[in-house]
Amino acid sequence: MSLRPHLTLGFNIPLKSSFVIPTSSSSLTLTTLFSTTSDPPSSSKTEDAYAKLKMEDLVGLCKRRGFVFQNSELYNGNSGFYDFGPLGSELKSNIKSQFRSQFIHARSDVVSLDSSIISNPKVWESSGHVGGFSDPMSDCKESKKRFRSDQLFWGPVKDEKGDIVCWVCVHEDDTEIMKKEAKKMAKKIIKNEKINVEGRTTIDISTFKDLTFATESDIQNIPSPESLKPTLTMPKDFNLMFSTSVGASSTTPAYLRPETAQGIFVNFKNVMGSSRMKIPFGIAQIGKAFRNEITPRNFVFRSREFEQCEVEYFIPPGDCWKEYHKEWLDFSKNFLLSLGVRDDLMDWDVHSGDGLAHYARACTDVTFRFPFGESELMGIAARGDYDLKAHEEGSGKSLEYYDEETKERYIPHVIEPSLGVDRVFLAIMCSAYAEDEVSGEKRTFLKFKPSVAPVKASILPLLKNKPELVEVAQKLYDELKMRWNVDFDTSGAIGRRYRRADEIGTPFCITVDFDTIEKEGKTVTVRFRDSCEQIRMPIDEVMGFLGKEIDGY
Ligand code: GAP
Repeated sequence: MSLRPHLTLGFNIPLKSSFVIPTSSSSLTLTTLFSTTSDPPSSSKTEDAYAKLKMEDLVGLCKRRGFVFQNSELYNGNSGFYDFGPLGSELKSNIKSQFRSQFIHARSDVVSLDSSIISNPKVWESSGHVGGFSDPMSDCKESKKRFRSDQLFWGPVKDEKGDIVCWVCVHEDDTEIMKKEAKKMAKKIIKNEKINVEGRTTIDISTFKDLTFATESDIQNIPSPESLKPTLTMPKDFNLMFSTSVGASSTTPAYLRPETAQGIFVNFKNVMGSSRMKIPFGIAQIGKAFRNEITPRNFVFRSREFEQCEVEYFIPPGDCWKEYHKEWLDFSKNFLLSLGVRDDLMDWDVHSGDGLAHYARACTDVTFRFPFGESELMGIAARGDYDLKAHEEGSGKSLEYYDEETKERYIPHVIEPSLGVDRVFLAIMCSAYAEDEVSGEKRTFLKFKPSVAPVKASILPLLKNKPELVEVAQKLYDELKMRWNVDFDTSGAIGRRYRRADEIGTPFCITVDFDTIEKEGKTVTVRFRDSCEQIRMPIDEVMGFLGKEIDGY
C-alpha cells in the first residue's frame, strides 16, 4: 500500500541482458529482393508528443480505438472499474504472456500457480489484511464526498505580519498545482467569510501536513475542499478488502483477494512437495485482485479491480537477500524495457524509514512518469519470513523447509517482485504514443514493440475488386492468423489503410499487389510502421520474418 512519503531517488542499476529482447527490424537477414522507401516521416517527435499528452487525451484515445471503456457506461459508469476492449484485451494478454514466458518459462527456478480468488477468511486474518489493510478516510459532512486523508494537505494562510488569516486544504498533487489550488481556495474563503486582510497573504506549501496529522482541534479549522467550510470528519481507517458471503448460511464474511501473493504463501508446501523445487525457487501467479479504493483515480492506474503478476521467490535466511533483491531489480527492469516501457520515463523509488513496511527489509519501486505525475509501476520487496511465519502461526502447521545439503531447517525468506498489469498497460500506452509528419500530414501512431502489439500485421490486398489479389492475400491471412492476431483490411485507399494500422500500433502492413501475382518470386511489400519504409520479400518468407520480429525466433 502507498501509506508512505513519496521519495524518488534516481540511480541507475546496470542492466543485464540475460534474455533475448525481440527488436523491430533487427533481423532483416531474409531474402529481401529490393527495398523501397515510401511516405517517409519527415521528422520524429515522439518525446515532445508524449510530453504534451494530457491524461484526458489518453483516456479518449483508449476509448476511440477500443482499448479501454468505462465499465457500465450504458448505466452512467461504475467508478473504479474498467472494461478492456478488443485491442486493450489483446495488449493486456500480451503483457501477461510475456510475464509468463520471461518470469516462468525462461527460468528453471520459477513455477506457476493459479489459486482461487476467494480463500478461507483465516488466510486474510493471518496475513494481517483483516486488521491492517486499510487507508485513512475522511468524509465531508456537507458535500458527502469521501477523501483519502493522506491525500489531503492543509496549512495556514498568513498576512504580512505573519498572523493566520484562515486555513486551506488541497488535494495532493504537483507542488505548483497545489500552490495554485491553495491560493484559489484562500481567495474564495476570504471573500465568503468576509475576512479583512491588510496587505498581501502568503501560503507556504512546504509546511503543509496531510490530514492524518490533524488533531480534533485542528479539524475545527480545516476547510473541506468541497464545502470550503470545516466540515471534514477525523480520519478513520477504512479496510480496502471487498467482502462477500459464501453459501447460504455463512455468518462470517469472505473476501475477494486484494493481492495474489497470499495464495502463493498458503500453497508453498503444496507446490514444493509436488514439483520437487529446492530453495532458491519462486512461485509466480497472474490474476485479478480487488481493492475497494477510497478514491480510485487516474484511469486504470488506481482501480478497484485490477490484475497483478507476482512472484514469491523463496531464499535462505541471512544476508543473501541483498544479492537476490538486486538480481530481481535488474530482471524486473529488463522485463519492462522488453515490453517497450520507455527507460527515460522510469526511475527507482527506494523506500526507507517510515515508508518501509514494518516487516520488510527493503522495498524498491520502479516508477513511471505518467501524464499525471511520477508514480509506482511495480514494487520489488524483500519481505523476510514475515508471511510464511504468519501463516504458520495462523494455521498451526509447520511451513519449515529442510535443506538436505546443509541439514538445516528454516522458514524461508522471500523476495517479491509485484506488478500491476493495468499500470504496465498504461505505461506501455504512454511509451508508445508518437506523432510525426508523413507526406505533409500529421500522423499520430502507437510504437508498440511487435511482441506486445495487439495486432501484429495487417494484410492488405491492393485492390478489393481484384479477386486474384484478394485470394492470395486471404490465403496469407489464413496462415498467419493461426499463429498471431492479424488483420485483413480491404477497405479504402492503401494510404488510409496504412494510417488505420499505424493508429492502433500494428507494426507491419503486408500488401499483396500485381507484382505478387504477375512477377516471378511472388513478392509482397512489407511496410514498417515507425519508419514507413517498405521492402519486398517472397510471400513464403513472411511467416519466418514475422516470427523473428514478433517472437524473436
Ligand atoms: N503483494 C504486494 C502488493 O500487492 P502493492 O504495492 O500493494 O503490493 C503491487 O501492489 C502492484 O499492484 C503495484 O505496484 C501496482 O502496480 C498494482 N496495484 C496496486 N493497487 C492497484 C490499484 N488499485 N489499481 C491498479 N493497480 C494496482
